[in-house]
This record gives sequence, C-alpha cells and structure tokens, in this order.
Amino acid sequence: MDRKEFLIKSCTACLGNAVFGGLLSSCKSTRFATGSITGDGILVDAAEFATKEKGKYRSYIVVRNDSLLFPICLYRFTATDYTALWMQCAHQGAELNVVGDTLQCPAHGSEYSNRGKVTNGPADRDLRIFPVTVNNDQLFIDLRKK
Ligand code: FES
Repeated sequence: MDRKEFLIKSCTACLGNAVFGGLLSSCKSTRFATGSITGDGILVDAAEFATKEKGKYRSYIVVRNDSLLFPICLYRFTATDYTALWMQCAHQGAELNVVGDTLQCPAHGSEYSNRGKVTNGPADRDLRIFPVTVNNDQLFIDLRKK
C-alpha cells in the first residue's frame, strides 16, 4: 500500500466513524414514549426520563402518539419544571429534529431553544408550547392551551 492509498483508506475510515458514530450516539440519546391520551391531554410517565444511573435523568424525551399530527418534545429541567414543545416548524410546518437542547428544522434551517424560542430563522415565531403539570409521577400535557 502506497502513501496515497493509505491516506485515502484512513480518511474514509475516520469519516465513517464520525458519521456512523454520530448517528449511533444520537439514536442512543433519544427516548420515545407514546403516552396515553386522556380527555384534553396526554399522560406520560415521569419514569420515562430515568436512566440506568440512579439520580440521572434524560434532558428530553419525544412523545409520539397516533392521535397527534406531530410529536411533542418534552424537556425536563427539574422534577417539577418541564416544557412540552409541538415539533412543527413555525415557518412552513415541517417536522423538527431534536439535537440536544435545540430543535432544528430540516427544511430551511430554523432553530429553536429547549424553551421553544426561535433562535435562528427564517421562522419568526416561537414554537407552540403546552402546559405540563406533575401529579404522582405522571406528567399531564394539556393540549387545549398554547
Ligand atoms: S419549514 Fe422550517 S424553516 Fe422552513
């Protein structure tokens, strides 16, 4: 193997590790929950945020339910502070992707914070946010209100 061939194979291997390693880590970090529709909202078990490590919690989960047109990203800040964000872009309605503490739009690049504030256009409005109440290890996302 000559130098040029070695460099090509090495770079290809590194690139593959970077791409697939990134995909695997992003898949590993996202937890999906279905929740259950009840009356005017959806109930989610707070235990969905638990990790294998005692006392450590996921910062967010994604709630997908057949009754919802779009998923809801549920961020946990403390045991009593959550934000439920409708994952539909405020620009032209594409479904958003969660990347850590931000939501990104694959269509035109808008970005939102984990509190639903638009941080990068072209979107010029914040995300739809639903109130979340905590009751006996159950989280109720009220779908009636904005
Ligand atoms: S639809 Fe999301 S930025 Fe255009």
